[in-house]
Amino acid sequence: MLDIEKRLTLDERSAVDFVLGLRKRWADTVYPALTREYAATGGQAEDIDEAGRALRELPLYPWFSHLERVQQKMLWKTAGDAVLSRRDELAEQLAAIPAQPLGSLQLDPDLALPDWYTDYDIHIQPGGFFSDDMSAYVYEFGARIVMLRDNDGYKFHKLFTETALPDLPAATRVVDVGCGFGKSTRPLALRYPTAEVIGIDLAAPGLRLAHAEAEAAGLAIDYRQGDGRATGLPAGSCDVVTGTMVLHEMPTEAIRETLAEAARLLKPGGALRFLEFQLTGDPLRDATVYEHAERNNEPFFHALFGSDLLAVCTELGLTDATWTPFDERRNGLQPEGWGDRSEWHFPWAVLSATKPEA
Ligand SMILES: C[S@@+](CC[C@H](N)C(=O)[O-])C[C@H]1O[C@@H](n2cnc3c(N)ncnc32)[C@H](O)[C@@H]1O
Repeated sequence: MLDIEKRLTLDERSAVDFVLGLRKRWADTVYPALTREYAATGGQAEDIDEAGRALRELPLYPWFSHLERVQQKMLWKTAGDAVLSRRDELAEQLAAIPAQPLGSLQLDPDLALPDWYTDYDIHIQPGGFFSDDMSAYVYEFGARIVMLRDNDGYKFHKLFTETALPDLPAATRVVDVGCGFGKSTRPLALRYPTAEVIGIDLAAPGLRLAHAEAEAAGLAIDYRQGDGRATGLPAGSCDVVTGTMVLHEMPTEAIRETLAEAARLLKPGGALRFLEFQLTGDPLRDATVYEHAERNNEPFFHALFGSDLLAVCTELGLTDATWTPFDERRNGLQPEGWGDRSEWHFPWAVLSATKPEA
């Protein structure tokens, strides 16, 4: 597959490096300076609202908030320009599937996309992720910068797969809900070589790219356009139901319906694992996470943080429900907690639960 980054012109390369540099300095220089300003006020906010109010009074705050929003917009402009100027070549690549593919792609043009999904441009990506085939390429390129290049080679998703998912040498079916362009699904095919691996997403553009990339990598993955809340797969047919960074994109009821569907799909003894975010308990840091959601057009972070998903898992008949912090720079799952990190970063955490044996 063509990697656009290897073909960038000097101007395009400079633009990408500028946005990446801006994002890194925002995270590792501006944010720590902001926390020092907060500490210097004697800031001891007891909750997120109080911390949010204190945050907005700090002299650095206008810079912190403006840079966060503006670099995200610059990122899409940069990634979008690089992709759209190669549209024909990329469209051809999407269409070049082998005559005898290892996996499959089932699109459903009649699938009704929920309003909460189409009503706003998620991550401020113009047109969102569902509207045009090129949006998948733009998202793929932009995500490399969002992850500060720490996820190149999909290290992050591999770490999740290796450290958070159970060993199941005889697994027969594994499902990735909200698989996007497949960066969470491809590691599953390597982790569970005996299993049928299925990636489900609402967005056709992402699935087309996921399918082309899986075939190019020689991986047998079945991609289906569908809703994680009602997959149409048989009950009790899956060893693992997983998803990365998907629950926080849904309203409260949809999160619950997605977990209910996962519980329905699992075999007795099967594992539910979702990589998401959790509040850290540090009011200032958590206030910046809420603000990140607002500035990044992610309106349902509040739904995720406001839902007691451990209780939801228990109500759904699952056992051993836990949240475990996850840190991509410290080898994945962190049962001891997130630990100290001075720079701004996502408070990743894994929701785990088990379907009891019958
Ligand atoms: C942030 S992306 C994550 C993609 C991928 N899992 C990854 O880690 O790169 C969230 C994905 O979830 C999909 N999505 C959101 N709600 C969904 C739902 N109810 N059913 C299926 N997919 C959904 C979106 O279309 C998007 O591709």
